[in-house]
Amino acid sequence: MTIKLPDGGSAALRGRIVTFGADAGALQYHEDGIVVVRDGLIDAVGDAQALMAGLDPRIPLTDHRPHLIMAGFIDPHLHMPQTQVIGSYGTELLEWLTRYTFPEESRYADPAVCDAASHFLLDTLLANGTTCAAAYCTSHPQSAESLFSEAARRGMRLTAGKVMMDRNAPASLTDTPERAYDETLALIQRFHGLGRLSCAITPRFAPTSTPQQLEVAGALASAYPDLPIQTHLSENLAEIAFVKELFPSARDYLDVYETYGLVRRGALFGHCIHLEPRERDALAQLGGTAVFCPTSNLFLGSGLFDRSGLQAAGIHTAIATDIGGGTSYSMLVTAAEGYKVLALRGERMNAAEAFFWMTAGNAQAMALDDRIGRIAPGLEADLVVLDSRATPAMRRRMERADSLADELFALMMMGDDRAVVSTYVAGRALYMRERGALPRRQDGGVPPPPPGQDAAQQ
Ligand code: GUN
Ligand code: ZN
Repeated sequence: MTIKLPDGGSAALRGRIVTFGADAGALQYHEDGIVVVRDGLIDAVGDAQALMAGLDPRIPLTDHRPHLIMAGFIDPHLHMPQTQVIGSYGTELLEWLTRYTFPEESRYADPAVCDAASHFLLDTLLANGTTCAAAYCTSHPQSAESLFSEAARRGMRLTAGKVMMDRNAPASLTDTPERAYDETLALIQRFHGLGRLSCAITPRFAPTSTPQQLEVAGALASAYPDLPIQTHLSENLAEIAFVKELFPSARDYLDVYETYGLVRRGALFGHCIHLEPRERDALAQLGGTAVFCPTSNLFLGSGLFDRSGLQAAGIHTAIATDIGGGTSYSMLVTAAEGYKVLALRGERMNAAEAFFWMTAGNAQAMALDDRIGRIAPGLEADLVVLDSRATPAMRRRMERADSLADELFALMMMGDDRAVVSTYVAGRALYMRERGALPRRQDGGVPPPPPGQDAAQQ
């Protein structure tokens, strides 16, 4: 099957633009701004007054005022096959995996199950303003093929991997070191670098891989030094004890991954809640990213992420939903729960820090900050339009908002998918609140352009 990649769109969007420079302190705001997009890339951004006169009349202008325009949200840790186990009752990590998650993931041997989940997941991410994700599929390569194909049709930037797991899981889910290597290599050759897709080396976590399997994961990592890596680390105390039992000669949990060359810049480690001092030092030195998954950590009772300690140690950090240990697809809800986790530790996260994290910060953590995460010329035009007065309760709250910081903070604490007006992927509106997701065409072609964006004009 050949996949038809959509062209990037051309558009001009007017609204209240919020974006960032190198850090959360460098918030840039245009009260009446315009973003100009050409062929999927941001061409210009600035005040409407300055840009209006020079606009190319062939590029359609959509006026989103009074809404906010930001870079699309980035979700650097979620599980594609867990959309039907979200909110399953009453367990901690290891029991949750065996009771709910592994049986559910076994269904993904069926390509029709994979396609339905991929379609649902990507549409739901877009409805939540998320334009890029790092996703775990199942151990079945067809699950990754399905997700990559759906993302390519939408023109989305996506990192994904077939999960490697060859022990401590049902036979219907386990592969072998050889299969993990061959199937991951085949996915790399077919999808990595196709359009906006990246293939991640994805050993699920140390308890479900033999040393032999981690060795082949490491061999792929050294053969492809630019490939992302994703796995889980130090989420739950019983999990950590299990790793000690399985790898008695390892210095600690991270050391298992270090031994096989799996810790480096662009490697995403989900959770990192209970790290030892040595693990922190090594993670900082080797450039790996600790991914905070607040709704999951609260739901599974895993623990409280130490953002300030990890950042002070020099570790890259990111924030993610972890669907479906996590309980919301919304990065707004995720950040709000993140705020509460940090509050329990006596820390504060202001709105600029939170919105930076969801966009530019997550892009940096994924080593994608030269492509996405900010509204700046030359970057890819993945954008979200947000309505901070989306519900009666939000409208009432916003009557008292006395600054942009206050408005953004209340938007984060009260917002969810109802606050997402439109989501643009490479300059094309793929979600509009009034119309929902644009329909998928059976021929795999690109969805039709939104109203006012005549294909002939693109
Ligand atoms: N550790 C290994 N697999 C998983 C998973 O699917 N979800 C979470 N939260 N932790 C894991
Ligand atoms: Zn996870």
